[in-house]
Amino acid sequence: MRSLLILVLALAFAGLLADAAIIERTFHVGNLTIRRLCQTRVITAVNGRLPGPKLDVHEGDTVVVHVINDSPYDMTIHWHGVFQRLTPWSDGPNMITQCPIQPGNSYTYRFNVTGQEGTLWWHAHVSFLRATVYGALIIRPRGGAKSYPFPKPDKEATILLGEWWNDNIVDVDNRAFLTGQGPSISDAFTINGKPGDLYNCSNDEIYKLQVEAGKTYMLRIINAALNNQLFFKVAGHSFTVVAVDASYTNPYKTDVIVIAPGQTVDALMAAEAPPAKYYMASRQYNSISFPPPPFDNTTTRGVVEYASAPASSRPTMPLMPPFNDTATAHRFYSNLTSLLRPGRPTVPLHVDTSMFVTFGLGRTTCQPGQLLCNRTQGAVAASMNNVSFAFPTEMSLLEAHFNNVKGIYTRDFPDKPPVFFDFTNPAVNSDNALAPLLFTQKGTKAKKLKYNSTVEMVLQNTAILAAESHPMHLHGYDFYVLAQGFGNYDNAKARECFNLVDPQKRNTIAVPTGGWAVIRFTADNPGVWIMHCHLDPHLTIGLAMVFEVENGPTPDATIPPPLFGQPLGLGLGMIVDFAVEFRERGPSSRHRLQLCLSPPPPPPPPPPPPDFVWQ
Ligand code: C2O
Repeated sequence: MRSLLILVLALAFAGLLADAAIIERTFHVGNLTIRRLCQTRVITAVNGRLPGPKLDVHEGDTVVVHVINDSPYDMTIHWHGVFQRLTPWSDGPNMITQCPIQPGNSYTYRFNVTGQEGTLWWHAHVSFLRATVYGALIIRPRGGAKSYPFPKPDKEATILLGEWWNDNIVDVDNRAFLTGQGPSISDAFTINGKPGDLYNCSNDEIYKLQVEAGKTYMLRIINAALNNQLFFKVAGHSFTVVAVDASYTNPYKTDVIVIAPGQTVDALMAAEAPPAKYYMASRQYNSISFPPPPFDNTTTRGVVEYASAPASSRPTMPLMPPFNDTATAHRFYSNLTSLLRPGRPTVPLHVDTSMFVTFGLGRTTCQPGQLLCNRTQGAVAASMNNVSFAFPTEMSLLEAHFNNVKGIYTRDFPDKPPVFFDFTNPAVNSDNALAPLLFTQKGTKAKKLKYNSTVEMVLQNTAILAAESHPMHLHGYDFYVLAQGFGNYDNAKARECFNLVDPQKRNTIAVPTGGWAVIRFTADNPGVWIMHCHLDPHLTIGLAMVFEVENGPTPDATIPPPLFGQPLGLGLGMIVDFAVEFRERGPSSRHRLQLCLSPPPPPPPPPPPPDFVWQ
């Protein structure tokens, strides 16, 4: 009897362990010498690989990643789409939730992946370094593949779409800053780090997916490109989308995937074509209204190869949509709906806080250090409600919030733009009377939210400088997309078509170019969370704002102090993780204020700039 009890207990304990594992990894960030497009380059990469290592975990697991920064640059890693409930210190955006990890230092990220499953990813969240510092983060259902709410695929493949510059990516960023202009355009797109055979010297640098006739493949597609939305197709095949941004969707059939930076799409693909070879291909969806500046119009491709395909056969190429095919992009983006699952959260029907937020490009006066900035035109900037987000320099916003330090940010992010004008009319750029609208002010402003309050945001794109579809990403939460459309938002009309039943749930929404989208979320995750455009060059010029979400009434709704002993980029060089031990100190205890070391002096001007594009 007694041994039976012990056996039962032992089994139960084993079951518990299997249910919630601790996945512990070390990320060495450092130089990697790599050959691409006929050139040998030194890039920043994790564990000597491009893309970086895949994290493969189960819902409910605890993830611990020790990041050791042996690169010459400041580093942070963001776990894109992970809620980070009560672990905002592990979110990763530079100067928002932590100091940068300086060269030679390290930082431990520790968080749970609870209440979310599907395809996410991780990436650097400082400068443009995520161009080469990124990888997949797959969260499987706790019950394994049999728990998918769709027929279990036979196999799966991760498709990380990336963007490549021959230039050093930090130079690209610095040059954009110094000149106050947009960055130079990329030289290639990549599939799992490989450009494919349409580029010079790249015949062997091509991703291959071997398939067996009759089997179904789940493609976990991630857009890790820095600055471009992408079309993705496979010749001779179509897809059934079953999830986006790690939220299940109603099955949606399509022969083209449209994906913005930050987004993920899980799509089933049946290998039912005649056994042969087929190209998978991806190239830009260019949403910029006018005038189309030069852009990276190249195509990356890989091969889907049937096991029985004749060795000598040549792959078929899919017909790609035109670069500016907004109709196709909008059809894909707007037709997705959430899969309703019993017991799971649904869209909030009651709204506590309503915001109307314009966003897009603009200009600002040249900032200190912008040595090559045109003094009459000013620098290209981007803003939300005409506030161009300025990153703090002394300490992270979360640090200032946690310790109630004044003077680092203000709580006056506006609920509406300073003026209502004809937002999407390009005349704003030529009418002298409207010229002041082009200028935007720098500021570090937060919108404060009560714990558990519900927020509705109308996101309205403007035509200032150019209308463009910006992928807006919110940290700490998923949100529902109730409606989206083109032109100026019309509240009465839009409300009639709100989807309040099964709206798509995302962490990144590509707001239609020259259009709007309405999102809702419940602020049930205390912390400081950045919302920003996931085209990185726009983040650095200010297309961002932060939500400051108050603690709730109970300890399990209160931010604990950061992990004791964390170097937080201060140079202690410790990687020992005291988390478990010192959590006990309780949420009320205060840790020593962490100041970030001031950034190194601005770099010397890099060589003469190539063609600039503000995109
Ligand atoms: Cu994927 Cu703030 O980023």
